[in-house]
Amino acid sequence: EQSLRGLAQRHGLQIGTAVDMAALADTADPQYRATVASQFSTVTAENVMKWEVLEPTRGTYNWAPADELIAFAQRNRQSVRGHVLVWHNQLPGWLTAGVADGSISDTELRVILRDHITAVVKHFKGKIWQWDVVNEAVSDPWDSPPAIHYKGFWAQHLGDGYIADAFRWARAADAKALLFYNDYNIEVFGSGNAADDKTQFVYEMVKRLRETGVPIDGVGSQGHLGTQYGNYDTFQVSDALRRFTDLGLATAFTEVDVRSQMTAGVQAGDSNEINPRLQASAGNFGILLQACLSNRHCLSFTVWGFTDRHSWVPTWFTNPPEGLATLYDEAYQPKRALGIVKAEL
Ligand code: XIL
Repeated sequence: EQSLRGLAQRHGLQIGTAVDMAALADTADPQYRATVASQFSTVTAENVMKWEVLEPTRGTYNWAPADELIAFAQRNRQSVRGHVLVWHNQLPGWLTAGVADGSISDTELRVILRDHITAVVKHFKGKIWQWDVVNEAVSDPWDSPPAIHYKGFWAQHLGDGYIADAFRWARAADAKALLFYNDYNIEVFGSGNAADDKTQFVYEMVKRLRETGVPIDGVGSQGHLGTQYGNYDTFQVSDALRRFTDLGLATAFTEVDVRSQMTAGVQAGDSNEINPRLQASAGNFGILLQACLSNRHCLSFTVWGFTDRHSWVPTWFTNPPEGLATLYDEAYQPKRALGIVKAEL
């Protein structure tokens, strides 16, 4: 039986997973480590390259967990996606508290951001294939106000100019890494009006960045889907990829998983053919992968965890409970989604 990475290689596609470093180190769970090594050709740190982990105390960097992932990847001939330089979540307390109590001014905040990007990108220089430079900077239609806008901590304090700055600082620190904007809910276009269509808003943003010479190389589409929302159409997804790649950008699916609500006849341990929810989940993996395979500038297809044993979904989506979002069940048995992915490769 061919591995995922072996199958993907024939298409020139890198197939990846987010890696949970605790699971990777757990000697009681050797299957985790073995599967990361044997099935995937690229890895992403699920958490250990985030700011709160890298710089828990101001000026003191904790590189060890991320370096460990890079060493693992090198031993297994895997490339690494760097995740993430600028995001509003998982920031260290000293930073958010300092901004909140006024001890860090907005002017100083911009310098802190520049120094962080520079230090991190330099530390990993030459070892990172693609960097998620800016993550989730754009609102969703259900946010307030409803018109799509630049959201979150960074835009609030620095205005949206931080986005162009971040790409420039990253490029200055490593001229070779591919620099990505990464976001969710941008798998397909909607109305085509940036006021209510997040994909259109992101499209116009990256187009403007390119046109003004900002060093951006790609758009990462996270691909966090849920079966309650139905399935996409492959043509819609490939059309969206094509619109981005027509701008001269690369694309990648960076965090794919397809969760289901654990109600309405779905329960933990369900893993197969008979359950319609899981069929839908499997189908959505197939649709995103097919779209990626249809575009030669879609460079990689990364899943956000590969086993229901280690997935962020059950801890994150609790009301109603959701789960069953990955390719293998909790006992590392292949699910229908894995079958579909392999069949397409
Ligand atoms: C998630 C991790 O999987 C969790 O372990 C962590 O507690 C929270 O963050 N979009 C992203 C990822 O870009 O960094 C998030 O990862 C999932 C959503």
